Amino acid sequence: MTHNIRNVWITSRNNGIKDDSRRLRLLPVVLQLNEMNMNNRITWLYNEFNQVGKDYSMPDEVAQYDARHADFRDVEQESIAVLDALGLGKNDVVIDFGSGTGTFAVQAALRCATVHAVDVSQAMLDNAKDKAEQAGVSNIAFHLGGFLTYEHDGPAVDCVVTTFAFHHLPDFWKGIALHRMNHMLKPGGRLFMHDAIIEENQAIENIAALIEKLASAGGNFLQEDAEAHFREEFSTYDWIMDGLLSRAGFVVESKNIQDGVLGTYYCRKQ
Ligand SMILES: C[S@@+](CC[C@H](N)C(=O)[O-])C[C@H]1O[C@@H](n2cnc3c(N)ncnc32)[C@H](O)[C@@H]1O
Repeated sequence: MTHNIRNVWITSRNNGIKDDSRRLRLLPVVLQLNEMNMNNRITWLYNEFNQVGKDYSMPDEVAQYDARHADFRDVEQESIAVLDALGLGKNDVVIDFGSGTGTFAVQAALRCATVHAVDVSQAMLDNAKDKAEQAGVSNIAFHLGGFLTYEHDGPAVDCVVTTFAFHHLPDFWKGIALHRMNHMLKPGGRLFMHDAIIEENQAIENIAALIEKLASAGGNFLQEDAEAHFREEFSTYDWIMDGLLSRAGFVVESKNIQDGVLGTYYCRKQ
């Protein structure tokens, strides 16, 4: 799949500077790429619709997602705790990237003005729509798209959230995605991220311990799930994530790496 560069990069021109090479040098990397590719189609864009690891485009996989995850997490309680910590309320607009079966989106919709649930899997979006209908919420906008392709049309938002989805992108593309999220946020807007983010110290031991813990919680299924995650998907060292966040214009307000492998970041747009 190819995407027109205009739909992928943030559009911006700096026509004040006449010398093209100087203008490009002064632009941040995302805008620079945009400038350089203004009239071309980009053929090397990472294809985020190609699922890596677990294939969440498959209805069978989606149908069993909530039950499988219930073996090791209470997603509804997690969502409520995150919303409390972010202090989001009735005037706030939230984007949830990699919204999956929609548990967070539904909880956010119960207390916020609008939630944009974004996912590259139509099967996930369909499942989330059913969940929203059952919960009686009608203020979720569902978007087939992802970190690199979702275009936010409305005004800048109060908060961007992503849980267990960012690891689907390799690090270079995570950097691009963070610039895009920053651009979608109001000044002072919040970013919440929870994912496999790894401390360097004792990384191998900590990953092995996590896989063992998941095997005891959910048997072969969770064990294979976790092994496939580390083998095929894109976990990131926390020191890399720290750098990517700060270069994309975020201040990390709080960071916790549980058991050396599960990162929780609360960030603010500078
Ligand atoms: C493990 S699930 C997490 C779902 C939910 N956020 C949660 O915490 O349970 C990962 C989700 O991210 C989606 N996803 C994968 N790559 C993506 C991308 N590049 N942009 C947006 N969503 C993506 C998958 O389709 C899947 O629904």
